[in-house]
Amino acid sequence: MGNHRIKQHPILPVPRKKEIMFEFNSQPMLAYEGEMIASALIANGIYVFGHHHKDGSAQGIFCANGQCAKCTVIADGVPVKSCMTEVKAGMIVKSAEGLPEVPMEKGPSQRAKIEEIHTEVLIIGGGPSGLSAAIELGKKGIDTLLVDDKHIMGGKLVLQTHKFFGSEQDSRAGTRGHDIAKLLSLEVRAQESVEVWTNSTVLYVFSDKKVGVIKEGVYKLVIPKRILNAAGAREKFLRFPGNNLARIYGAGAFQTLVNRDLIRPTNRLFIIGGGNVGLIAAYHALQAGIEVVGLAEAMPQCGGYKVHADKIKRLGVPIYTSHSIKSANGEHLVESVTITEVDSKFQAIEGTEKSFACDTILVAVGLDSLSEFTLEAHAAGIPVYAAGDALEIAEASSAMFNGKIAGLKIANDILYGEGSEGNIPDEWYAKAQLLKSHPGQIKGYQDPHPGRDLFPVFHCLQEIPCNPCTTVCPNNSIHTEDGTLMGLPKYGGQCVGCFRCLLVCPGLAVTLVDMRKDKEMPNVVIPYEIGSIPVNKGDIVQLMDIDANELGEYPVFRVLDFKDRRTQLVVVKVPVAIAKKIAGFRAQDKSVSEPLEKPIITTSLADDAMICLCERVSVKEVRDLIKQGITDLNQIKAITRAGMGPCGAKTCDTLIRNLMREEGVSAEEVVANTRRPIFVEATLDIFPDGDSK
Ligand code: SF4
Ligand code: SF4
Ligand code: FES
Repeated sequence: MGNHRIKQHPILPVPRKKEIMFEFNSQPMLAYEGEMIASALIANGIYVFGHHHKDGSAQGIFCANGQCAKCTVIADGVPVKSCMTEVKAGMIVKSAEGLPEVPMEKGPSQRAKIEEIHTEVLIIGGGPSGLSAAIELGKKGIDTLLVDDKHIMGGKLVLQTHKFFGSEQDSRAGTRGHDIAKLLSLEVRAQESVEVWTNSTVLYVFSDKKVGVIKEGVYKLVIPKRILNAAGAREKFLRFPGNNLARIYGAGAFQTLVNRDLIRPTNRLFIIGGGNVGLIAAYHALQAGIEVVGLAEAMPQCGGYKVHADKIKRLGVPIYTSHSIKSANGEHLVESVTITEVDSKFQAIEGTEKSFACDTILVAVGLDSLSEFTLEAHAAGIPVYAAGDALEIAEASSAMFNGKIAGLKIANDILYGEGSEGNIPDEWYAKAQLLKSHPGQIKGYQDPHPGRDLFPVFHCLQEIPCNPCTTVCPNNSIHTEDGTLMGLPKYGGQCVGCFRCLLVCPGLAVTLVDMRKDKEMPNVVIPYEIGSIPVNKGDIVQLMDIDANELGEYPVFRVLDFKDRRTQLVVVKVPVAIAKKIAGFRAQDKSVSEPLEKPIITTSLADDAMICLCERVSVKEVRDLIKQGITDLNQIKAITRAGMGPCGAKTCDTLIRNLMREEGVSAEEVVANTRRPIFVEATLDIFPDGDSK
């Protein structure tokens, strides 16, 4: 049982926190005041939080966001989601072995009356879009209540240690996500007309136009005139044999543990999914000193930005495109992963399996919008708006911008009448569109720089909505090729070697070639942020080109430490022939990513995978019903219990719909599950007793 806390982080401060003691299965354990039970357990090396009542398999966290219920433990006699429940000094925590017992009745509720709070606007969610909207509403002096279920605001921004893409002017590109969260939170707190409730969960939007909220353990009813759903998204899960093992995490859970709670939940990680989330998680893992064994992406090309993919490849993380997970292997916990090449129809190609030893698998295969609040508010007849991931899954830079638009739109509707466009400039809509653009064309390098001795090289060859490098040059020497946010950066002017473009680039995709002193052996300056793998003067590094091809080993000539930017600039002296090709150097040793000698092929079939983890229902059970013609999710639930578990069908709904599509069922034929009356579990004792006056 070790201590898995991160003591040093290259980007994040590691604050001293008050220590408290609690008990887990009669073992005394140390926690930090204010942290969640799940985080405290993992910090103590506990990954199994209980065993499933149906098959006895180990249960641990998946989402760390209150969505999946895999993390249930018994805290002081009450079953709770450990990822959302704060650990307290002296708390007695027990693993949930089978179905938890119903806690003893404490007598009638002491709460006699529910407080009702009226507000003009209720914002559900204090992430990038909710905060941005609250600022706009606050600027107009509109009475607003913002409710967030975490103890700090910022949503996914809090989890992001990398510098942001997007436009510097509109979405603070070049600044790190968690710094943006602090800035936005401060700005919201400064708005007099905006009240903020943290640690508060929205349960439901009722048909009488009242919204049930648990504010720090006390149930209240909010009566808003309008609602903005900025609740974000939940992670998608995947079907594969072994998907019920403990230590399979969603990317958000991983980032929560590593970047919010400063806990190292794994030593060897394998990532499934090459979108931006998976690629960034790989980078965050390296920053936290975690070995990243590899990343598999089913498409022939990663869906995330090329600069992200290139960055992790050259740091030493192999990316297996056209590969998918075949199985997670292990008895109770993940011990290894087997991946396989897939054809153009995503069918596994036999004989191409590779297995890797790893203790954790991270599933980063996309997000589903949390649209429930929008639907219920609509049904209740409350004017409702949506922003950020709750509206459409996109980058946080885009969420900030569309939150801003939503805030101003609501203000306009209130001040000037419904549907009024008021003072929202047309270019805002155009920018919002641009910021959520998918990556575009991949092009070649810019022409060489004849006659210049000092110049930046942009290893940024794919059109993405990003421009901070173009705004920092003191000589205004960097522009995008066509003047748009999506255009590739081009250098043309007089570089003075200020390094600003290297330090601001979120993709670490700019190097500087300096031939002023030596034209044959110029200096090349490379940005670097992986403090967990330190690089010092005199170290030998394997230099890499943009595609992670080796360019040779060279000694580090100098290291410049920009502590305020939390970035180092590593200088190497190299032959001129390779100077412009150098995009970075390998940081993680090659041996980390070597496959096992023989692939592990399990006897399980793909259809043995679980489709409903709460109730342990297999793909086969559900597929058989679909083949019999059942397309009603309620019937599938009644027959198999898939969707009846504590997560409220949040995990299996998408998986079953995908299965139906595979079986040729059209979206129109699918009958949706009947929505449960509250979206989040709540203990009955928070509600006033029916007899109380
Ligand atoms: S290093 Fe400085 S002067 Fe040179 S191109 Fe970059 S920002 Fe401009
Ligand atoms: S080089 Fe410029 S446009 Fe490309 S990722 Fe870096 S900052 Fe963005
Ligand atoms: S891990 Fe706690 S609800 Fe998903």
